Parts: sequence; structure tokens; C-alpha cells
Amino acid sequence: MNQPPAHSFNALVAHYLGEQLPEQMAAAISFPALHADVKRFILRMLILMQKADFPATDFTPTLIWQLSNIMPGFLPCAWSGRAPPLTLPMRNAKIDAYVVKHPWPDRLVNPVFVDMGCGFPPITTTDTAAALSGWRVFGIDRSFFDYVVHEGDGSYACFNGQGAFQYFQPRMDLAGIRIYQNPAEVRLRFERIFDDLHPLLSRAPDQTSDQTSDQASETVEKNGHTLIHHPVRNYEAPNLTFIESEMEDAQVPPAHVIRCMNTLFYFEPETRKRMLVRAGALLADSGILIAGANLMSGACCRYTVYQRDNLAMEATEFALSLDNLRSISVMPWYTLHDDDPEAMLLADVIRQVRADRPFWRIFTKRLDALMAHRGLFERRGNGFLHALEGQAPAADFAQRASRLWRQLNEEGFADGAVDALNRAGYAAWKNPVGDIAIRPNCCSLNLPDRD
Ligand SMILES: C[S@@+](CC[C@H](N)C(=O)[O-])C[C@H]1O[C@@H](n2cnc3c(N)ncnc32)[C@H](O)[C@@H]1O
Repeated sequence: MNQPPAHSFNALVAHYLGEQLPEQMAAAISFPALHADVKRFILRMLILMQKADFPATDFTPTLIWQLSNIMPGFLPCAWSGRAPPLTLPMRNAKIDAYVVKHPWPDRLVNPVFVDMGCGFPPITTTDTAAALSGWRVFGIDRSFFDYVVHEGDGSYACFNGQGAFQYFQPRMDLAGIRIYQNPAEVRLRFERIFDDLHPLLSRAPDQTSDQTSDQASETVEKNGHTLIHHPVRNYEAPNLTFIESEMEDAQVPPAHVIRCMNTLFYFEPETRKRMLVRAGALLADSGILIAGANLMSGACCRYTVYQRDNLAMEATEFALSLDNLRSISVMPWYTLHDDDPEAMLLADVIRQVRADRPFWRIFTKRLDALMAHRGLFERRGNGFLHALEGQAPAADFAQRASRLWRQLNEEGFADGAVDALNRAGYAAWKNPVGDIAIRPNCCSLNLPDRD
């Protein structure tokens, strides 16, 4: 491949996608000024778009806004290279529904669900414990943080046992997300709150141990701010246990389901394969492991389902939600390493659906019409999508976008994409939660003998 021009974002878009964006659209991204990791992220994104046959004309103003405002504060480079604990309510609700609809044997005795890399606060795991009645649920993460500070408006920050700032998560609406633009200021604000509230705790912090299992939680409040010591304990329930552990070393009963969402993509392909094998070794016979990625409310979901068969684990399904096909957001292109296997498979599937001209013509025309109808974007005479309400998405943007995709699903477009994939030679079907599924033509992983 030729060395891509790196002097402007638009030159890169033209290099990979064969056409420039309108200058006022591309101007929001000052490529040379970006952190090297953000530059690499954008290059991987363009390579995946090229693979998927995604044209410059399908860029949305929201995607540009995410690249310029969100990505720099979101990537691990903003968090000393760590995988941030970021999670969101109901993000994995569709995976819970998938588990409920899975054809389990009639008598499933004491079923076990393990959420690997559950994040903190472990909201998606508590969602699961509520959704899966009769299941024992375990949330595993390498770090549950010793302290959390809540600002009272939905944003919070995590601190370690020595009181050092580790991570903050803004309130996930537009106003909240803007604080990613001023991380140093936000960090200082949270550190001041921590210093103000910490002396109010009745017990001296335990700095000798990082095992949280026998440590009760304590909460103090002042001026609408809250500091919680050992916060993870507050999320436990009779059917819900949290274990601070590397996923490879997790001590859990044989699992009927292991979910690992938004975690493996932090690792190089070879490492993630090793992690998958180690996690698969924790499955009960015929148990399933679901690994993938998505956005808030489960948007732009992609996931692989593996099933254990004795000492092997086979990928039985790769699934994607309809909103990946011509995504409004950055999610289908979200990778942290070159050659992310799942993102590459997704790009292949998108290309195949796009190549089915009769389906794609109808789908893309309807999508443009609904985008305009719901006040999201309008395709103008130059062929590009324009925002109808300014460059930054409006407060209810995500809800309107999600209703749009639900309507397209109800109008049969997921079935149409499945038919297109079958015509292209894939074994494709609509899965029980309405996603487009294909049978992957890889890969059986050998699992280690049970101890
Ligand atoms: C982005 S969060 C994902 C949270 C949640 N699963 C979700 O989908 O919203 C990734 C989490 O994985 C955890 N993690 C990364 N590598 C891990 C490992 N090897 N063992 C245990 N946890 C790990 C991180 O600490 C972080 O909390």
C-alpha cells in the first residue's frame, strides 16, 4: 500500500475512500495535531471503511463530531494505556435477551452467568442479574477501584487505595460528554472533592490489601457530592457476586454463559485468542461464550457466539445489529489494534450486503428518507449528509436514531440483509434477538483439560 498522506484528514479520506469530504465537514479534525494513538485509530477506521466499501458520502456529521470531540478522551491513551472501566446501563440488555432465548435443555440446574471484564460501576451485570431470574451471576474485573466519587449529576471518578485519581466517566448525555474536552480540569475538580470528603470516612483506608471481598462499603456526603469506600460491595445481591481478578484466573463454578463485551478489543489478536481460550476453559459443557462490542443502549452491536463441546470451543455465530450496515456512529470502525478480527469480519459482511444492489438501493433510499423525517440528517445536492440541527447531536439524538433503526427492522430490512448474505453464499439467518447472523467459517479453539 502507498504511504498515505498524513497532512490532513481529508487527504486521508480521499486516499482510502477515493473522494474528499466537503471541506467544512472535514475541517473539524486537525489530523497533525492529534495524539499518535488517535491518528492510528483514524487510519484503522479508514482501512476498515475501505474494506467495507463505505463511501465518503455516507459519513455523518455525528461521526465527525465523535472523531473530533469524543475519541481523544475515550481511547486508552487518555487513561495511561489502561482499558477504562466504562460501562453503561442496558448496554448489554440484548445479550441478556439472547441468553433467555437460547435453546437451553429443559432442566437447567443452577445456571451460572459470568460477566468477564464487567467494568465499574458494574451496571450491566446488575442489569443481567435482574433480567436472568434463577441464575447465579458473577461479575469479574481486574479492578473495582477502592473509592468512587459521584458529583451528583451522573458523572463520577474512580480512585485507587492510595487516593490517586484513575478514571472519570461523564454523564452520558451531550452536555456531560463535553467534559471529555477538558480532562485536566475535570480531574482537578474530582481530586478536590476527594480530598474534601476523604477525612469524613470513619475507617482508615486499608492500603495493605487489594482484595475487596471482605471489605464493607462506607459512604460519606457533602455539598451534593458522595464518596464511597469499597463501592463494589453495594452492587452485590443474593444471586450476584463480584470478584476482583484477572479473567484468566477467575475462580467461578462451570459457567453456562460467559459474556465478554467491550473488553477483548483492548488486546492484540494473539493475546485475545489466548484470553478466549482461558475463558472458554471456565464453560460448562455446551455452555456459550459471547464476546463482542457495542455502544450505549447496545447500539451497533457485533458479537461472536462460541459453544463448548468437550475440549473444544467452536464459533457458531457472528451477529451484527442492522445499524452497523450504514452506521451513523464510529462504532463499526472502533478498534484499538490492527487487524481486529471481529471488525474485519464485520467490514466483510457490510461489503457483501452493500454489493447486493437491489437490496442496497431500497435500504439506503429508505434510510435517507427516515433520517430526514426524524430530523437527523439530510442528503444534499452534493451527495453528502448534512446535520439538520447543527454539528453536535441534539440531546434526544440517540433515542431518535434508535427508533429509526427499530422501524427499519420492523419494515423487514434485517430480513432483507439476511437474504442478501444468503445470495452471496453465506449461511445467514435472523437470530432470536433480531440481529443479522452468519455462520463463521473459522474457528475451533482447543481448550485445556479441566483441572
Ligand atoms: C470497557 S470495560 C467494559 C465493561 C462492560 N463489559 C461493558 O460492556 O460495558 C472493560 C473492562 O475490562 C476490564 N479488563 C480488561 N482486561 C481484563 C482482564 N484481563 N481481566 C479482567 N478484567 C479485565 C477492565 O478493567 C475494564 O473494566
